[in-house]
Amino acid sequence: MVTSGRQETEMEYRKARNLCIRLAQTVSAKIGCVQAAHPQARYALEQVELLREMKVDDCGIEATGVIVEITAALAEVLPKFIVGDIDEAGAFASLREVVGPFWWARLMQEPPMQDYAKSCFEFTRMLPHISGDVLEIGAGVGNYSQLISKIPKKYYRTDIQRSFLTGQYSKNEFVYDFDAKSDLRNLDMVVSVNGLHCSRDKTKALRNMFEVLKPGGVIVLAEGEPIVSLSGEPWALGIIFSIVSGWWAVGGFETRENWISYLKASGFESIGTSRLLESAGNGENQMLDLGGLIWGYRSSKVVSSAYR
Ligand SMILES: C[S@@+](CC[C@H](N)C(=O)[O-])C[C@H]1O[C@@H](n2cnc3c(N)ncnc32)[C@H](O)[C@@H]1O
Repeated sequence: MVTSGRQETEMEYRKARNLCIRLAQTVSAKIGCVQAAHPQARYALEQVELLREMKVDDCGIEATGVIVEITAALAEVLPKFIVGDIDEAGAFASLREVVGPFWWARLMQEPPMQDYAKSCFEFTRMLPHISGDVLEIGAGVGNYSQLISKIPKKYYRTDIQRSFLTGQYSKNEFVYDFDAKSDLRNLDMVVSVNGLHCSRDKTKALRNMFEVLKPGGVIVLAEGEPIVSLSGEPWALGIIFSIVSGWWAVGGFETRENWISYLKASGFESIGTSRLLESAGNGENQMLDLGGLIWGYRSSKVVSSAYR
């Protein structure tokens, strides 16, 4: 059974979207007609092409803060990366240098990115599982960690990058790669906010999570949607993250339908989804589907032989 619901965001995505469209137009004007050689540069170029013809909408007050700083810096760095003047490491280093460590650290911690963690927390705090043993994977900068940290009986906070594990939100922190099997067992809940799309093989990674859960345990993912409107509009912030592999999946998000298939293939059932929506601002009551939550349960019944 698949159930669904919805939740709405503020206007932060639309403000960010406008800046990303302007960024794509600037980059496009600087690079002209090129073919990018490096796979990530190809992804960046693809995002530029998807966004450059789009119109900036009138959503009121201009964006401020980190999104302004990052898109301004990317207008310098991205063209050099796409045409091959600098490689991935060089692009990343230049970006950090141009924006500085303060803005760089804030990039993932402000709306609209934070909306995914908030909606995940709003949902998970209603589940009885949250009071039990909980594993967060791809916990990174900690948007969700800071909300949940004091609630579970035991809260394991993990990421593939040690630098994110500062002890700030949990005493039980360790490096864990969700593409590998875990020794943990009998947990009540596994949760990940914009993390699992980075996995090499989604079904295998979800199967690893199935195995750490107890019967009746739940997995909750918050993930963005690659296409946000019926007219095929891309999730605009892909252009920002196009040069950050490892921290972000280069290649972008997976569709909700794909996640449902991966969850089913890994043995989960009673799958549900909810949408994170924002007004398209075109005066026609259309909504942008920014992705949202996908969850599934490890059956409390006897596990069928197909999944053993
Ligand atoms: C886009 S960030 C999301 C961070 C955090 N969940 C949040 O929303 O604030 C993705 C995170 O997944 C981590 N990650 C990427 N690949 C991973 C893997 N194979 N195993 C575990 N974590 C991984 C990255 O290091 C990064 O911290």
